Amino acid sequence: MEHARPFDANAFKEAQRRQWDAAAQGWNDYTPALRAWLSQATAAMVEMAGVRAGQRVLDLAAGAGDQTLALAGKVGPSGEVVATDISERILAYARARAEGAGFANVHTRAADGEALPGDLGHFDAAVCRLGLMLFPQPLQALRGLHAVLRPGAGFCAMVFSRPEANPCVTTVMATALRHAGLPPRDPAQPGGLLSLGAPGRLDALMREAGFSQVASTTLAAPFELPSAAHYVGFLRASASPIQLILSRLNAAAAEAAWADIEAQLHRFDTPRGWSGPNELLLAAGRA
Ligand SMILES: C[S@@+](CC[C@H](N)C(=O)[O-])C[C@H]1O[C@@H](n2cnc3c(N)ncnc32)[C@H](O)[C@@H]1O
Repeated sequence: MEHARPFDANAFKEAQRRQWDAAAQGWNDYTPALRAWLSQATAAMVEMAGVRAGQRVLDLAAGAGDQTLALAGKVGPSGEVVATDISERILAYARARAEGAGFANVHTRAADGEALPGDLGHFDAAVCRLGLMLFPQPLQALRGLHAVLRPGAGFCAMVFSRPEANPCVTTVMATALRHAGLPPRDPAQPGGLLSLGAPGRLDALMREAGFSQVASTTLAAPFELPSAAHYVGFLRASASPIQLILSRLNAAAAEAAWADIEAQLHRFDTPRGWSGPNELLLAAGRA
């Protein structure tokens, strides 16, 4: 009889790192689309984390650094933003973006968010935009984060909310799994795009990690693009969880999967273009 192999968090993270190294340029190239999609939610996240001028702020799983710039502007020249990510390659884009925008107050450090380096110092606030749900052990990450925050420091995480409110993600995921010959996945499975979306789950993890004054809110954030094909272009260039699933297939089978994904996504066509429904969850607390 075949037994399922025990979940190996380190192997999972190593696969994530390689995937995000590979998707780094794609994610960076789509920064304007990501900004249009997430700007309102990003402003809310920065506000909920209590980011102010002069603070030292940690940007966890910073990616190509779009929200890093928002933080750098907010803390100003007397403050500092430390952007960390498990992928050194995607972080290089964050560094270049900050330099290009003339921010001397941004520093980058490649690091696993579940095992922050001991010499990172302490922070007055922290954010994590669309990263924490990809961590296989979010409680461990939250505990480590709590330890580097000064007492009273604010933290806000942005993740996808419940599966029913994110039909765009569930449609793409279900289609990719079907083509890869894999069974449907429990959305709560560690490291999945929707793993922290169940109401109350992230709040409970934050409290368990030691955060107080925990509160969360949801925000509708439709991803608006000219067509379903543009969204598939974004997914192909950047969304490594889907790439990870389809990497099991040969080239022809993967193409067939992408064509099917695009066909499924036409359900979100509108007279003015394409509007993929997404709902985000913002959870904040104090160290
Ligand atoms: C969806 S991207 C979001 C990037 C950026 N925050 C943004 O919103 O544009 C997810 C990021 O999480 C990073 N990541 C995944 N697992 C991580 C871990 N264990 N530690 C640190 N970063 C991680 C990936 O490398 C990737 O850059």
